[in-house]
Amino acid sequence: MKETKNNFGKFGVVLAAAGSAVGLGNIWKFPYMIGENGGAAFLIVYLGCVLLFGIPLMTSEFYVGKSGLKNWRWIHGLTAVSSTLFFAFYLVVTGWCFEYLYLSIINATSGLCPTQLENTFQAFSNSIWMPLLWAVIAIVLTALIELAGVKSGIERANKTLMPLLLVMLLVMIIRGLTLPGSSAGLRFLLEPNFSKITPNLILSAMGQCFFSLSIGVGTLATYAHYMREEQDLPITSARVIGLDTLVAILAGAAIFPAVFALGINPTEGPELVFVTLPSMFGQMRAGYALQIAFFLLLSIAALTSTISLMEVELHFLQKTLKMSRIKGILLSSGVVLGLCLIALLYKPVFGWLDQLVSLYLLPFGGLVFAIYVGWRCPKDHVLRHMTPQGCPPFFGQVLYTLVRYFIPPTILLIFLQGIGAV
Ligand code: TRP
Repeated sequence: MKETKNNFGKFGVVLAAAGSAVGLGNIWKFPYMIGENGGAAFLIVYLGCVLLFGIPLMTSEFYVGKSGLKNWRWIHGLTAVSSTLFFAFYLVVTGWCFEYLYLSIINATSGLCPTQLENTFQAFSNSIWMPLLWAVIAIVLTALIELAGVKSGIERANKTLMPLLLVMLLVMIIRGLTLPGSSAGLRFLLEPNFSKITPNLILSAMGQCFFSLSIGVGTLATYAHYMREEQDLPITSARVIGLDTLVAILAGAAIFPAVFALGINPTEGPELVFVTLPSMFGQMRAGYALQIAFFLLLSIAALTSTISLMEVELHFLQKTLKMSRIKGILLSSGVVLGLCLIALLYKPVFGWLDQLVSLYLLPFGGLVFAIYVGWRCPKDHVLRHMTPQGCPPFFGQVLYTLVRYFIPPTILLIFLQGIGAV
């Protein structure tokens, strides 16, 4: 039985799923991956991955959650575990964003040279107690929103935070583009360098697609449980993916023109956001306010993702273990914070979680959903849900074929290659 009164509204679910999808992956990871991988060439490969993997897998996850099939329980258990591991990793990085929001407000990074900024970041990310404090604050905020429930907590938070995020991005883009010399950054983003396309680039684009679209840890399936009966799955996926991709591209457009205008090297890797950008803001007029806006944006994007991660565990604890919502919130917060503490005390655990999540958990989750939907669920039922309303059955057929024949062997091949068997 579905609890109808608590279901998401029609656009509420799109915003909530987009809130989950739009996160550090879009604003922190995507710009530096573009920077490292030949600008628009990466973008084109990424868009290909979104079409071949993103839309079919997101629709499959939605399908599993929405139709509430009995034997999805074991997948549910699996996703509760993988989302917890993912949550611990994600919470640590969310804490970094909060720290930088705080540093921006007290104006602690202005006037520092890049080496000093680098040292600040290293010293902070290698310490234990401050990152832990921020992780606690992030999880308390997440828990409070969760406590308010699906419609008045999750839906309302996303409906307010997501438009705010878009407005802040637009302000940053306008500021960046009005700097002299910014067009070089735009060219860098839009001009494809096809010589950079290698099998490795395709692999990272695929990994980024899973990460950015929140595929594989059960978030989408959990949100789909609260969908209305008439919600169209492929159209919802297309909307969520459209928003996610838009934010990723806008983040690139907000960052690169300004980075180029100020003559900073764009291929800075994961430190782009925490080292390069503060240095960029430090040299900009109105940089103080923009830096606060940027880290606020990043923190909000991370928070709408942590909400969705906690909901996976909560839903499992409530539905399968019949726990009350408040007890579930306390238990999952405790477990995740415990894992965070381990990752902060033993730094290799953090790196290990990062690798485990991006290289194995997400593709493995995608594989499980694809096999389940493509091979275990009744074909007619799946096809009905995969065909967008008012479209010829052909669309559903294409999605189904990708889920059944293309995605499982491709992911398997990538796994085998990863462990050196092929
Ligand atoms: N999509 C999120 C981002 O871009 C990261 C993410 C991956 C995620 N899987 C998730 C977030 C599951 C929440 C739930 O940052």
